[in-house]
Amino acid sequence: MVQRSARLLLIASTAAALATASQALGAEPAFTNLHVLSKDIEVVQLLAQMQMFEAGLGKDCDYCHVVVGTVAPGGPGRLPTGFDFALDDKPTKRIARQMMVMSRTINAMTPAAVGKTAENTEPVQCFNCHRGMATPPVPLRDILDRTTAQKGLSVAIAQYRELRSKYYGSAAYDFSDTPIGEGAGSGTGGLQGYAAQLFFQGRIDDALAWLNVNLEFYPKSAATWATIAFVQGLVKHNKTEAIRSLQKAIAIEPQSTQLKAQLGVLEALP
Ligand code: HEC
Ligand code: HEC
Repeated sequence: MVQRSARLLLIASTAAALATASQALGAEPAFTNLHVLSKDIEVVQLLAQMQMFEAGLGKDCDYCHVVVGTVAPGGPGRLPTGFDFALDDKPTKRIARQMMVMSRTINAMTPAAVGKTAENTEPVQCFNCHRGMATPPVPLRDILDRTTAQKGLSVAIAQYRELRSKYYGSAAYDFSDTPIGEGAGSGTGGLQGYAAQLFFQGRIDDALAWLNVNLEFYPKSAATWATIAFVQGLVKHNKTEAIRSLQKAIAIEPQSTQLKAQLGVLEALP
């Protein structure tokens, strides 16, 4: 009996605690400067939006919001302190608001474009463009191309090394050992992909230089050796070097019939 009433008491006090907690959640500060989000949005939902911004851009609250005091972290349904969130002083906040409007416009168009219902269509988030960066990253090959045009190949190669050491593992740039297309990863294509692009532009020496940079990071990339062999044999007409490069690929993947067939082609060259 005593035990039962103790349990009831426990249930009652838990219920009271929950009521107080939900009251605390319900006692929301009035948001005074919302122009895109609904004015009566709950704190929890607003925070989820703001965290989506943070993850999308790789930045904290203070990237967009003015700090006016000592910053202390918030909690579930509780805003951090030390900010005046309503202020629009920071240009980043004003831009972010325009970006929200832009994203909504895109999201309103997508269902019709892909022929799906709105519920079944994935909306774009800040991350889709921003990839965790304040300014959306452009494909690595575009950056390298611009630097090569402006400052030369060796500066571009140095830039590649620097970006790789800084951003490897982030969502911003593709440093993988995959060309673009079937079987490749989900990125923009690594240096193999860039080299292929240069090859088709007739920039053969640049392509070879980048394939060699790729080998520094992926010495066991048989595909890279095979591409080098192809360029050396069929474009540079250097049969001996081509065969030597292809032997490197075969040593890495001795069971590949494709590489053996390529060796046959190179050996048949005059
Ligand atoms: C990339 C910029 C950006 C970041 C980062 C960001 N916010 Fe915001 N925040 C905004 C924008 C834009 C609005 C206004 C939205 C609107 O007009 O509907 C806003 C509005 C708010 C508001 C409502 C203010 C009011 O009274 O009108 C609060 C509270 C808030 N943010 C909290 C946060 C918190 C907490 C963080 C960090 C976890 C954060 N924000 C991170 C851009 C940002
Ligand atoms: C469709 C692609 C796209 C989406 C989605 C997108 N942005 Fe952007 N954002 C851009 C581009 C492009 C720029 C400008 C790049 C430049 O300055 O060259 C930019 C710039 C910005 C900047 C200015 C950065 C600076 O340092 O100058 C902010 C802040 C920003 N976006 C916030 C957001 C937020 C928040 C979201 C999600 C609500 C978002 N963006 C969604 C493409 C996008």
